[in-house]
Amino acid sequence: MCGIIGYSGPLEAKNILLEGLAQLEYRGYDSAGIACFDTRSAVQVVKRTGKVAALKEACASMLRHSHCGIGHTRWATHGGVSDTNAHPHRAGRVTLIHNGIIENYHSLTKRFSLESRLVSQTDSEVAAWLLDAFYTGDPYSAVRQLAECVRGSYGFCIMFDDRPGEIYGIRSVSPLVAAYTRSGALVASDLTALIPYTRKYFVVPENHIVKLTGYKISLYDLDGNAVLPEIMEVNWNMDAAMKNGFPHFMLKEIHEQPEALKNTILPRMTKGLPDFTDDQIPDEIFTECAQIHVVACGTAMHAGMVARALMEPVLRIPVMVSIASEFRYEEPLIDEKTLVIIISQSGETIDTLAALRLAKSCGSKTLAIVNVKGSTIARESDYVLYTHAGPEIAVASTKAYSVQLAALYMTSCRMALVRGKFTREQAAAFLAGLLDAIPAMETMIRQKDTERELVTHLIQQNDTFFMGRGLDYAFSLEGALKLKEISYIHAEAYAAGELKHGTIALIAPEVPVIAIATQEHVFSKMISNVREVKARGAFVILLTKEHARVDEGLADIHIKIPDLDDRFTVFPIAVILQLIAYYASIGKNLDVDQPRNLAKSVTVE
Ligand code: AGP
Repeated sequence: MCGIIGYSGPLEAKNILLEGLAQLEYRGYDSAGIACFDTRSAVQVVKRTGKVAALKEACASMLRHSHCGIGHTRWATHGGVSDTNAHPHRAGRVTLIHNGIIENYHSLTKRFSLESRLVSQTDSEVAAWLLDAFYTGDPYSAVRQLAECVRGSYGFCIMFDDRPGEIYGIRSVSPLVAAYTRSGALVASDLTALIPYTRKYFVVPENHIVKLTGYKISLYDLDGNAVLPEIMEVNWNMDAAMKNGFPHFMLKEIHEQPEALKNTILPRMTKGLPDFTDDQIPDEIFTECAQIHVVACGTAMHAGMVARALMEPVLRIPVMVSIASEFRYEEPLIDEKTLVIIISQSGETIDTLAALRLAKSCGSKTLAIVNVKGSTIARESDYVLYTHAGPEIAVASTKAYSVQLAALYMTSCRMALVRGKFTREQAAAFLAGLLDAIPAMETMIRQKDTERELVTHLIQQNDTFFMGRGLDYAFSLEGALKLKEISYIHAEAYAAGELKHGTIALIAPEVPVIAIATQEHVFSKMISNVREVKARGAFVILLTKEHARVDEGLADIHIKIPDLDDRFTVFPIAVILQLIAYYASIGKNLDVDQPRNLAKSVTVE
């Protein structure tokens, strides 16, 4: 979950590391630190709790004229948030930064009698001391021995005192990308730190050692053989990772959704029909499966819930959705006749990755819907459908959700077509309906003042309830998550018919209820449920289609979306729910893009 970066080259290392950490900060922001070889080739470390800005201030007059260093921004796992627990860690002749979790650090501490040496409470410092113990002048041998004894996930960047100008890296599960550029050699936990310097990069393969010097990068397997890296090219530029005039990344990313949707859908349409030829996804995976299992976490899992509600009635085969962290331990009933759809923006979420590996070991076909090109999930899945949202920086997922939905809608349409559940005309009409959702989203983005105003009531309350039926219930789940994570208002989503079975006891005067009622076939039932909460004094924010007629006074606020086919209302509704969460966070003066306790990419269990 942490952000890591290493640099060796002709430029001032401190500046490159600090700029890189600012780009990576969304991965974790409890504390940050850098270590550089100084002009006398001695390693100097500066680390601080708080954000990168605090670190920048702390080293303003230090670490000048250095050309090699490593930097880290932390999301605490082992050990609290403190200067001592911040990375880099020093151990004898070793300086190390780590992203991941070392599961056996307790037993390693005992086995190598490290208790008296440790100054922090972190698992990472144990790795630093191990390296120091293994180091006899050969960095490869020391790193190899470290890899042999640690269990868990890691991306390490390491400097040895007697090797100024050199950085060594190794990873298992946690990501590491590297590039040699005109400005020098860089390694980082993700691409956003490399983009200012290059568009070409490579993913450090698991259990390979990467070595950076000021003039080259080398890659070796654990037997010491040189390996040619597989160079990839990013398809977005630095602009995509900047705020570009928006006050927050989240607001910018909400605005980017219509474009992201077009980029994801249009290249996959041939004569009005879904076409995955360029993605090299064969129709057999759609025709030969007897069931579908969608696995993901958080927002991506909510996209899966929408897909289930959409797919099952059309395909008439079981479609199940699982939370990845549960799926991997529940011995799921999947086999070679199961298509497992894995959804992940980052492509690095550890539970989702483990679920993918489990699915493959059961013989299931795997299709990953992923945003980050070359990520671990993308590389390990049998097939990949990339979403083209560009980098999503705000911790709260917005555009990634919409494009995941778009990819799932297209998958569903292609499946229905090749399984004979849709005629060509029906499939073409479906895709046309999907495209109609884009201007509807634009309309809701233009009308964002509505949400800005309505949050004044919301932010004075401790709880908010979301409710809906069918697809609307699936959308509610995401609305509640969004509100919780950035406004810290407790929020829950309910299938509207379920409220009476307990939760309605919590509805008291002024409690906000966000009721989504866009599904025609359950509209009247839904309105009855709204009446029930209104009768108990709830403050009702009702979301319907334009033409919907509701009794005067039923809703305190009524937001209307353009009249769309029921199947596509999620797109404009998502915008409304995202904006409600966004303005609630602003209204409470919170850190919208980097909410407390969270990190963008969850690479630990
Ligand atoms: C939601 O806003 C979160 N950022 C989170 O739930 C996220 O969707 C989840 O951690 C999954 O991440 P992934 O898509 O990168 O796998």
